Amino acid sequence: MIRIDSVTKRYPDGTVAVDRLSLDIPDRSITVLVGPSGCGKTTTLRMINRMVEPSEGTILIDGVDSRQQSVNTLRRSMGYVIQNAGLFQHRTIVDNIATVPRMLGWSKDKARARARELMERVGLDASFAKRYPYQLSGGQQQRVGVARALAADPPVLLMDEPFSAVDPVVRKGLQDELLRIQEELGKTIVFVTHDIDEAVKLGTMVAVLRTGGRLAQYAPPAELLSDPADAFVEDFLGADRGIRRLSFFSSGGLEPLTTPIVAVDATAEQIAARGATEAPYLLVTGLDGRPLGWSEPGKLTAGQVDAGQLLPYGRPFVAGRDSLRAALDCAVLSPTGWAVAVDAEGRAAGVVSQSAIGEAIRGAHAHAHSAGRAERPTTEDGGGSGKSGQKVVR
Ligand SMILES: Nc1ncnc2c1ncn2[C@@H]1O[C@H](COP(=O)(O)OP(=O)(O)O)[C@@H](O)[C@H]1O
Ligand SMILES: [Mg+2]
Repeated sequence: MIRIDSVTKRYPDGTVAVDRLSLDIPDRSITVLVGPSGCGKTTTLRMINRMVEPSEGTILIDGVDSRQQSVNTLRRSMGYVIQNAGLFQHRTIVDNIATVPRMLGWSKDKARARARELMERVGLDASFAKRYPYQLSGGQQQRVGVARALAADPPVLLMDEPFSAVDPVVRKGLQDELLRIQEELGKTIVFVTHDIDEAVKLGTMVAVLRTGGRLAQYAPPAELLSDPADAFVEDFLGADRGIRRLSFFSSGGLEPLTTPIVAVDATAEQIAARGATEAPYLLVTGLDGRPLGWSEPGKLTAGQVDAGQLLPYGRPFVAGRDSLRAALDCAVLSPTGWAVAVDAEGRAAGVVSQSAIGEAIRGAHAHAHSAGRAERPTTEDGGGSGKSGQKVVR
C-alpha cells in the first residue's frame, strides 16, 4: 500500500501545490486523483516516485519511508505514463517498449520478445512493431505508452492524464482496455485526471482535490455521487448525479414479466390470453426469441403480424448484467414506457414497467444506505471493473 501522510509541497517560489494531503492508496486497484487544473494532481503523483520531493510529511510504500529507498529502485517499481505518451520519436515501437528492460540489462532479443508480448496485451497489432511513433495515431501511441510502463512488470503504475489528448471514442476504448488490463494484472494504479466521468468510471477510490492542493473528499465513486462532502464536490460532479449513480446498481433485482410476450407465430388463443395481462402492450418476438416490437393486443391478428407495423422497442437492457441506469434508459426511450429485458444472446427475457424500475431504485438506495456504501459500476460491454464480481453498467 502507498500511504501519503500529511504531505505538503511548497515550491521555491512559495506556491503551495499540495497542502497536508493524507491518502491511503490500496493495493491492486485504481485510485484516481481528480480536480481542476492547478490543484496539485501532478505534483502529488510525482512525489510518489520522488520526481518531486515533499516539503513536509512522509510517503510510505508498504510501510517503508520512500526516502529510505534509492530513487532508482523506487522508480523501477513504478511505471509512469503521461499525456501524449512521451515516446522516443527516433526509436521503433518495439524498442520504445523495450526501453526499461534494456536499461535493466536484458538482452535485445529478450527485451523485444517482452515488448511484442505487451503489444498484444494492450491491443496493438504486431505489424506496428517496426514503425516509428509518428506513424501511429494518438490512441495507438497512448497504448505504446502503457505497454512501455508495463515492460518491467512494476507493481505500481502512475498515470498522469494519459488519455486526455485523444477523442472521446478512442478514449473510451483506452479506458475499457485499462480496466481489462487491470483485471488481468492487478497493478496498483494511481491515475490523474481532470475529468470526473473518467474518475467515476475507472476509480475504485476517487480523491477529489481542490485548488491549493487540499483534499475535498476521498471515497468510492458511488459514494461521491450519493453523498458529496460539500458544495465544491457537488459542483465538480456536475449534473445528473442521481441518474449517474444508478450505474452502480445492478438490474438483477428487477423481475421482468414474461406474460406480455408473444411470438410472431402466436395463435389467436395465445394472443387473447397474453392480452389479459397488466401490460398495455404486447412485445412480439421473432421465431428466434429476439424482440421485434410492441403492439396493442387488439391490433394483433394470428398469422398476420407485420413487423413493419410494430412500435419500436428501443434499446433493450441485458437482465442482471446491465445497470438500473441502463434499464431506466430503456424504459424512458420506449414508446410504451416499458423496458425490454434480453438475455446475453439477445432473446427477450421479459418486460419491465417504469414503476417497477422506480421501486427497484428505491430498494437499491435503501440497501446502499444500510450497507454503508454502494458497489462498483458494471460496464455494458463486459469490461468489468474488478474483483468485486460486479459486472457492467451504462
Ligand atoms: N516547478 C514548479 N514551481 C512552481 N510552481 C509550480 C511548479 N510546478 C507546479 N507548480 C504550481 O503548483 C500548482 C499545482 O500544479 P500541478 O501539480 O501541476 O497541478 P495539476 O496537475 O493539478 O494541474 C500550480 O499552481 C502550479 O502552477
Ligand atoms: Mg497536471
